[in-house]
Amino acid sequence: MSTLSNAACDDLNLHKFCQQGPITLNNNPYLERQSQVESNARSYPRCFPIAINRAQGVYLEDTAGQLFIDCLAGAGTLALGHNHKKIHQALKHHLDSGAPLHTLDITTPAKDAFIERLFSVLPKSLAEKAKVQFCGPTGADAVEAALKLVKTATQRSTIIAFNGAYHGMTHGTLSIMGNLATKTPVKSLMPDVQFMPYPNTYRCPFGLSGEQSVQSNLNYLDHVLSDPQSGVQKPAAIIVEAIQGEGGVVTAPISWLKGLREITLKHDIPLIFDEVQSGVGRSGKMFAFEHADIVPDVVVISKAIGGGLPLAVVVYDRKYDQWRPGAHTGTFRGNQLAMVAGKVSLDTLVEEALPEHAAMMGERLQAYLKSLQNEVPYLGEVRGRGLMVGVEVTEYPSAEQTTAPAPNGALASAIQQQCLRLGLILETGGRDGCTLRFLPPLIITQQEIDKVAELFRQGVLNAVAEWERNALTA
Ligand SMILES: Cc1ncc(COP(=O)(O)O)c(C=O)c1O
Repeated sequence: MSTLSNAACDDLNLHKFCQQGPITLNNNPYLERQSQVESNARSYPRCFPIAINRAQGVYLEDTAGQLFIDCLAGAGTLALGHNHKKIHQALKHHLDSGAPLHTLDITTPAKDAFIERLFSVLPKSLAEKAKVQFCGPTGADAVEAALKLVKTATQRSTIIAFNGAYHGMTHGTLSIMGNLATKTPVKSLMPDVQFMPYPNTYRCPFGLSGEQSVQSNLNYLDHVLSDPQSGVQKPAAIIVEAIQGEGGVVTAPISWLKGLREITLKHDIPLIFDEVQSGVGRSGKMFAFEHADIVPDVVVISKAIGGGLPLAVVVYDRKYDQWRPGAHTGTFRGNQLAMVAGKVSLDTLVEEALPEHAAMMGERLQAYLKSLQNEVPYLGEVRGRGLMVGVEVTEYPSAEQTTAPAPNGALASAIQQQCLRLGLILETGGRDGCTLRFLPPLIITQQEIDKVAELFRQGVLNAVAEWERNALTA
């Protein structure tokens, strides 16, 4: 397991975290200046009114010296946590070597080594026939590239995406997004997008549960693709997340993933897995589609693949490599430091069996959350894979309740704020932001997971007590 000794700030640790007094928020001159000059579109500072000074492993220290456990981790980017010493050493070595920092897409030894490492962690049957496209270093740009790739190869225009999907914030990726509040203000998005129901067995659109819900979902998709009067033209691709992260950690059942692969093969439709968030060990496997033992045609990878630095790639079956030279250029496709950090990060994930560790830590966390459900009726489904874990917050279930109670985004947000005051940083997602999400670095230890669970329980109890007091006085 990763050791924090010799790290940049090895005083940031669980012992110091546990010794600190109550946390104070909103008293920081950085925040005032930020709100004056930064865009109204800024997002995380609204939930996390802190200014971060130092970071190490799973810990953040703000400018007032207060410590937080970071279960956001750059929205799932920091697989090895903050300032991992192996990444630092590799970056320093590269900087001191005289190697370039930026080369567009011209090759270098650093790039060559990164590609070799990347291909070594792909399923063998994909690696054998794969090509890779380096993209502008964001998940969204890589999704754009994947859409262009399959549209060019198939000469079809329709894209099928799923309710609840999140693939980025560019025009093309907004078009395949589920969240209406985010996409509605931007007019004239990419046409020819069709949405299918995601296999959400907790809130099944067919009113079914379990395997019946899954099979009906697959039947519907197969029907739409087969029916000459479905109104949906044969798509250039189906794009899917094996676990919808921003959508609320909705986790596709294995049988659905297998069924999706069968249907796309039957109809000759390229299948794109967006592994931007779920990939690189987070789900307990290197890629989340591997839980279903299937192989996609196209895989989009970003976030953790750059070891904490910006990097995004599309890996695909070479039979789709029909686009023209220069079909997806972009200046910042040659970030050498990200390739160096990405390779070291992959080395470490493999050497230290971090996907397996993530699977164990995730199970431990889910077990805590499930036991807390018995204590707190406002907690709905607990779900996820590996260290991509979510718990949905709902209205109080009625005695006759047979289906999931309505989502309760306001209480989820109150819990998030209470957790922050206890030193725990959590993300929200899903419908009305009703899902509390845990995305800690994969190096998180068992003691730290236990601490996260303890803080979360306290945050939930504090928020619920306040919620019920307010309901009584309303
Ligand atoms: C599944 C998925 N795809 C794409 C993206 C977009 O990545 P980026 O924010 O780097 O553009 C995200 C970001 O959270 C994501 O979770």
